[in-house]
Amino acid sequence: MYKSCVAAMVAALYWLSAPAMAAEGEPIVIKFAHVVADDTPKGKGALLFQKLVGERLAGKVKVEVYPNSTLVGDADEMQALLDGKVQMLAPSLSKFDKYTKKLQVFDLPFLFDDEAAVQRFQNREMSRELLRSMADSGIYGLAYWNNGLKQLSATRALVKPEDAAGLAFRIQPSTVLEAQFDAVGAKPVRLPFADVYKSLQNGVVQGAENPWSNIASQKMNTVQPFITESNHGVLNYMLVTTSKFWMSMPFAVRSELEGIVLEVTQTVNKEAAALNQRDRDRIVASGTSKLITLTPEQRQAWREQMMPVWKTYEADIGADVIRAALTVNRKR
Ligand code: LMR
Repeated sequence: MYKSCVAAMVAALYWLSAPAMAAEGEPIVIKFAHVVADDTPKGKGALLFQKLVGERLAGKVKVEVYPNSTLVGDADEMQALLDGKVQMLAPSLSKFDKYTKKLQVFDLPFLFDDEAAVQRFQNREMSRELLRSMADSGIYGLAYWNNGLKQLSATRALVKPEDAAGLAFRIQPSTVLEAQFDAVGAKPVRLPFADVYKSLQNGVVQGAENPWSNIASQKMNTVQPFITESNHGVLNYMLVTTSKFWMSMPFAVRSELEGIVLEVTQTVNKEAAALNQRDRDRIVASGTSKLITLTPEQRQAWREQMMPVWKTYEADIGADVIRAALTVNRKR
């Protein structure tokens, strides 16, 4: 009796941690979970991936997409991936802190001049290497998916860095983002994405930093009367799976999936900026929030206040990684 109980428990544990191996004749199931809405760069990317897999690997692979934290939220998604409960995620690059410090290069405030510079960095060898930076934990980076640059929103107008002093800002779980808000005398508060709207609405936090697509799709503008077009940092994603799952698939299936990932990545990264522009225009037209555009001098004041964070995290991230990112700001 005792033995059979133990055997059943071992079998259950194996089942929970095993990759989604297909039973004979059944398709391999890829559960792709994420925390944003369908009508966002990541949401659309996940649906396009599902569609192309459905067309090209029918009967062999089936993709199930779970948007809006419906299957797992950002606090649990990495563990769910490692436990084999989901097979694909695309967390923001700020959410890998626990597995590698190197990706925090993307969090450094005002590091990249614009989205084109971020894209150039993502195309370079250093970023290719960063896709493998979590190999020791079994995490396998497939691609970078763009969303866009972050804007500061708040219950008061943020023109000078001093305007942020004393306000609580929601942040993603990243020590660099914490330091960024500390640098302007604000109070960073780590909260899951699913709680941001509610926390802004009930006043737990008074501000946040998001790309336009996340502000609009979560209706954050309805509870943030001021949005400063600061473009102060990046919010892009890494499409990840586990090496255990990815390598468990037959070579031909994996190759086809990799081709699809490449195609979807190109589409997401081509369309992300336009989606953010669309959502910016919608927010402006809605009249919910006053848009604050910074003069070059005003933006420079924010930059100077936040830039010491680079030095603080240089040893953690790696001076070579930061240097590689900085060189892309120079157009070739
Ligand atoms: C956030 O938590 O603000 C973002 O990572 C959400 C997302 O996935 O865009």
